[in-house]
Amino acid sequence: MIASADGCGRWAADPWLRIGAVTLDHRVLMAPMVNYNETSIRQLARRFGSGWVISEMIHVDQLLAHGRGVLRVLEREPQERPFALQVAGREEAELVAGARLAEEEGFALYDLNMGCPTRKQVRRGVGVALMREPAHVHRVLRSVVRAVSIPVTVKMRAGWDACQMNAAEVARAVEDAGVAAIAVHGRTKMDWYGGDCSHEVIRSVKEAVRVPVIGNGDVRTVDDAERMVRATGCDAVMVGRAAVGHPWFFAELVAWFERGERTGPASLEARRATFDEQAALLEDRFGEKLAARRLRLYMFHYVRDFLTRGEALLRLGPLHGLGPIREAVHDCFEAETRARLEEGEPAATT
Ligand SMILES: Cc1cc2nc3c(=O)[nH]c(=O)nc-3n(C[C@H](O)[C@H](O)[C@H](O)COP(=O)(O)O)c2cc1C
Repeated sequence: MIASADGCGRWAADPWLRIGAVTLDHRVLMAPMVNYNETSIRQLARRFGSGWVISEMIHVDQLLAHGRGVLRVLEREPQERPFALQVAGREEAELVAGARLAEEEGFALYDLNMGCPTRKQVRRGVGVALMREPAHVHRVLRSVVRAVSIPVTVKMRAGWDACQMNAAEVARAVEDAGVAAIAVHGRTKMDWYGGDCSHEVIRSVKEAVRVPVIGNGDVRTVDDAERMVRATGCDAVMVGRAAVGHPWFFAELVAWFERGERTGPASLEARRATFDEQAALLEDRFGEKLAARRLRLYMFHYVRDFLTRGEALLRLGPLHGLGPIREAVHDCFEAETRARLEEGEPAATT
């Protein structure tokens, strides 16, 4: 497949993303998300085509204080690789020690969070607060990069607010420090998750640096991804919320960008099978009780395309055990399949 002017097969000839010495096999990447990150979500993301798995943000001071205790949260299966460890922090010595620990523990990449907008983090001077201190970030990251042989990456926002959209300046500083790739969520701290994700800012970063730039924000459909890649020239796309309970979305994106195929979303049957797979992975790792608690986080997402939030809450909200949750989610899928057949719609698509 020859890459065409639109995104169809755009990455067919070169699907690999090289981040320093690490080569990812796809340019579609799962995003780090606190609370939505454990082995089941990571394994499914990888199996459906995410080029890496990444942890949620871990505070580097906790990582250092509790060492392997914290790493237990990140306990991973062999198929969860390449695995990027994302940390939050600001002190040079801590970030250097965290990077050494990440390398010793076999993580493939070390990512610094420069995007978290919560008051708690900003008060500590971490997350997006770092974007206000490009010189400090440059100094710290230069030491981190020198301390380890694994690639060091950052994930940042557009800037602090509409008057301080300094992503391109910060990107130049971190590239100069030796960072190997930069992910940009095209919103400012003040935008939080509202307003539009700015493709212009992602483009400005792409134009400012030579290392790979990963575009992020509001990619919910293949068309969204296509628009982002076209508008920004980014080297890869990162997906967060849209892939929760919809891990097959990675496969849809890979099919389009690598093979020029519009597969459409997964069938109801395939969705239900993926739900069962996630439930089984959770049970294997956490045991029945904790698995059920985790599955409650995901179950609403599996049915969100055909049940309103209210309907889903009514049908699934009161359930707590793994068996009842499984049964009720299956019932939702069966009811939806029947409804589609009655309406003459193919059940095979959404
Ligand atoms: C619940 C939640 C948790 C998040 N946790 C993290 C995190 O740990 N580290 C990080 O860099 N970004 C985090 N983010 C931001 C996402 O990685 C991503 O940048 C953002 O959701 C925009 O992408 P999306 O529109 O594809 O979801 C989080 C977002 C959400 C909604």
